[in-house]
Amino acid sequence: MSKNLSYGCEGLCAVISGGTSGIGLATARRLLADGARVYILGRSAKRGAEALRYLKEQTGAEAQYIACDVSSQAQCKAALAQVAEREGRDLQVHILVNSAGVYKEQRLENLTEEDFDAMLGVNVKGTMLLTQAALPYLRSGSCVVNIASDAAVSGNYGCALYCASKGAVVAFTRALALDLAPSVRVNCVCPADVDTPLLAKQLVDADGGYTLADMAAAYPLQRVATAGEVAHVVCSLASPANSFMTGSVVTVDGGLTAG
Ligand SMILES: NC(=O)c1ccc[n+]([C@@H]2O[C@H](COP(=O)([O-])OP(=O)(O)OC[C@H]3O[C@@H](n4cnc5c(N)ncnc54)[C@H](OP(=O)(O)O)[C@@H]3O)[C@@H](O)[C@H]2O)c1
Repeated sequence: MSKNLSYGCEGLCAVISGGTSGIGLATARRLLADGARVYILGRSAKRGAEALRYLKEQTGAEAQYIACDVSSQAQCKAALAQVAEREGRDLQVHILVNSAGVYKEQRLENLTEEDFDAMLGVNVKGTMLLTQAALPYLRSGSCVVNIASDAAVSGNYGCALYCASKGAVVAFTRALALDLAPSVRVNCVCPADVDTPLLAKQLVDADGGYTLADMAAAYPLQRVATAGEVAHVVCSLASPANSFMTGSVVTVDGGLTAG
């Protein structure tokens, strides 16, 4: 990953759900290196502590971890209240990144109500609830970046529920961009396969049905993305320099959907 890129985020406050792993963690790293104050949210305190250590090692700067299950409205509100307490009374969340998400392959005939509630509970409800909790602190110049997926814009095999959840994130992004204009910008990123723990779990679940090399071969660029490459686009969208982009759906997919 290229280091020390400047996004103009020095002194800004950033809250990142799913900031303890993968794309969220890579985004935290870039924003910390850029001089932002960064709060990472996730359910596992162990992953949170590991992420803080990694961020300190990589950037020399301290982020802060707040435990939060984004599928709970009470926990989302409590997390933002903690940020407000740590930041002081005039909190402005300049950057909210909704990266918490889950993936599972499953054909429709095997889908249960519990699967539906679990997937949409994080990917859709979690994105909406954390944004709702942050609303009082999103002021002029603030922005929201949601992480959707290529699965939101084109169908993928064996994951109709995941596709539907990410399609909802794209629709939410566009609608919220209208509701929060002109003061707050709202955009989303649609990555294709990214080398993160989520992808590693996907390959384990596939049980040899396909491999990373099979995945890579589908891409015009002949590989999957790194988390840092996606984080770069997230930070570019979040940058105050990106002041005329809102309601945008940005693909980061190595050309997968170009054809
Ligand atoms: N990797 C890919 O190929 C890919 C492609 C397209 C889109 N995406 C999307 O990108 C986003 C990030 O994925 P990733 O690959 O970085 O995944 P990851 O490495 O598995 O990280 C997921 C993060 O979300 C957190 N999380 C999960 N459920 C949560 C909940 N209920 N409340 C709060 N935090 C929760 C996890 O922490 P805890 O488990 O500790 O809570 C972790 O920090 C997701 O929305 C995913 O759908 C990923």
